[in-house]
Amino acid sequence: MADRKATLQVDGNSIELPILTGTAGYDVIDVRTLGKHGYFTFDPGFLATGACESKITYIDGDKGILLHRGYPIEQLALEADYLEVCYMLIHGEAATAEEYQAFRSTITNHTMVHQGLYNFFNGFRRDSHPMAMLCAVTGALSSFYHDDLNINDPKQRVRSAYRLVAKMPTIAAMCYKHSIGQPFVYPQNKLSYSENFLNMMFSVPAEDYVISPTIANAMDRIFILHADHEQNASTSTVRLAGSSGANPYACIAAGVASLWGPAHGGANEACLNMLEEIGTVDRIPEFIAKAKDKDDPFRLMGFGHRVYKNFDPRATVMRDTCHEVLNELNISDPLLDVAMELERIALEDEYFIERQLYPNVDFYSGIILKAIGIPTSMFTVIFALSRTVGWISHWHEMLSEDSQRIGRPRQLYTGEAQRDFAPIKK
Ligand code: SDX
Repeated sequence: MADRKATLQVDGNSIELPILTGTAGYDVIDVRTLGKHGYFTFDPGFLATGACESKITYIDGDKGILLHRGYPIEQLALEADYLEVCYMLIHGEAATAEEYQAFRSTITNHTMVHQGLYNFFNGFRRDSHPMAMLCAVTGALSSFYHDDLNINDPKQRVRSAYRLVAKMPTIAAMCYKHSIGQPFVYPQNKLSYSENFLNMMFSVPAEDYVISPTIANAMDRIFILHADHEQNASTSTVRLAGSSGANPYACIAAGVASLWGPAHGGANEACLNMLEEIGTVDRIPEFIAKAKDKDDPFRLMGFGHRVYKNFDPRATVMRDTCHEVLNELNISDPLLDVAMELERIALEDEYFIERQLYPNVDFYSGIILKAIGIPTSMFTVIFALSRTVGWISHWHEMLSEDSQRIGRPRQLYTGEAQRDFAPIKK
């Protein structure tokens, strides 16, 4: 952290503020002392606000760079598996072979959920949105697991992190099975993390389920590409919830709720619905016009990003994976044709170029998930499953800091000045 200073000249005063420098990326101006001078910063939507210090993920939006613990996402997506990425996100370093085996064994042995959790699904209508079920059941986990709720004990924090990474696929598959009226499928310890998830999603008691290595690899890569993404809306939600001392399961349920919005994790579901509404390549210009129309709330789902003003490196890997899966499964999906043509047209259109709007991680993921046989309503559940490790890693990092305090933003008040209340004559 450098000892450079910024000087703020305001109302005839000179206020010196430290400038802090990290390993990479923007320097930050430390405004923590500004309150003493009678001012707050004002940044709705946090366009230019660093909420914390972190060592987990680095994004360079201009260059389209995404690093997890310093490792480029392109390398991790092609050369690691999801559990290796989980290990490094939680612990800070890539696992050795022995650490990986021990971690994988621990996760495998935590994949079952308390039998009482199955009863929760009896209360959900079959047509409940799977995210509604996931949000409710994730929060309920704290009513079953009491031996890891001391958030000040690093060992208990790591144990709850392992439990969540292990159990989210089981719960996600339960949400799907409930929605289609099929029996829940228990985890199988002989299967890999992604194979186990596919088996819990698609196997039925009536026949053996043969797991396609292509689909299992694609699933694992999708998990990796969604694992973490710096201080996005849902991760910031988890951090803020955790700053009050709430238990890990309640914090992750808050993250699930925040991710559900179509501007965030709900975009993959919204993107596929949009591609289906466009339907054919010849209707693309009509939707591009709607996206550009200020009076039309329609936006091109899967396009744009608060940070990336270049290609989202995850979208590039996702696009290649999309072609790989569809080719290997010999599927020709007209929606992919629409997506490719939509991407081509948008990237040549002045409106999108001027606003640096590129396809993001959600643009292609929906097409792969659809090819795998996952219904659109489950797309954000898959995103939440993948992102749980990122959420809990940030939660764990925040609580590891000595200076951790409750998050409590202030405001610009523009309401009524103080006035006397005139009670109704009764
Ligand atoms: C994720 O933060 C993360 O890291 C999130 C995420 C993660 O891994 O956690 O990467 C996952 O959430 C990816 C984003 C998924 N969302 C979508 O695909 C929904 C569609 N995208 C937009 O809603 C929007 O681009 C956001 C929400 C992603 C970003 O919004 P910003 O940064 O607040 O940008 P903005 O709304 O200020 O837009 C700037 C301009 C505006 O036009 P002008 O007012 O300048 O004329 O660009 C326009 C917007 O109208 N614009 C779009 C657009 N996105 C922005 N116009 C048409 N289609 C779009 N998709």
